[in-house]
Amino acid sequence: FVRQVDFHRTIDSTNRRALEIARGGSLDGPLLVLAESQTDGRGRGTNRWWARPGALTFTLLIDSNLPQRRFPQASLTVGLAVCEAIEEVHQRSDMQLKWPNDVYCRQRKLSGILIELPLSNPGLLAIGIGININNSLGDAPAELQATATALCDVAGHRFELTEVLTGVLNRLQYRLECIGRHDDELRTKWRERCLLTDRNVQVDLGTRKVAGRCRGIDDDGALVIETPAGLEPCFAGSVTLF
Ligand code: BTN
Repeated sequence: FVRQVDFHRTIDSTNRRALEIARGGSLDGPLLVLAESQTDGRGRGTNRWWARPGALTFTLLIDSNLPQRRFPQASLTVGLAVCEAIEEVHQRSDMQLKWPNDVYCRQRKLSGILIELPLSNPGLLAIGIGININNSLGDAPAELQATATALCDVAGHRFELTEVLTGVLNRLQYRLECIGRHDDELRTKWRERCLLTDRNVQVDLGTRKVAGRCRGIDDDGALVIETPAGLEPCFAGSVTLF
């Protein structure tokens, strides 16, 4: 699946590096930017990605020509692939999707995903994934421990990073082929794993906030919120749980 690997012991951000490569022109198949550690990992919006060595951090640069309206589906599909790959190595079924594309394990964030469209080359897609694997959060600040987790803390042992990486890439290859098709299996899988369904949430859309009870994810990948004015599909935003 992956045709080229751009490996770094330390880099500022694998997403930044992937966008730089994208400026260079077309790809000869999927390209993996992989780093042992990042000094300036990017997150969605104003988020940063904070992780000690032992996390899996990479960006997959692929040809896609993905139309904007398929972005919510792509995010969820990448998140689903991460859930499935982690469950394979961990052998427990406890991964959930927090719309639009975080992966949670036992109510705490295990993985963050940042998908970017290179402006210089919009036919490509940069899929950035960070997964807390061997970077135990045991001595992290209390506020981080309350909201995030690492696979080694959940399982009580460390994992072989290359095995996890291979599993995620295999799952991504399989699932990414489904985006854009009318794929009911994919939709069922997002819904089964949705952490927010039937919970009270507030979605920050940037221009305004939508508050209400989450009624799941619709066929287009939008989060559906029941508000006093009716059902409102949200296509992009960040969610706070109540
Ligand atoms: C988020 O939680 O808001 C998304 C975090 C995404 C982090 C990953 S780590 C690998 C890739 N490179 C980056 O700079 N960010 C993504």
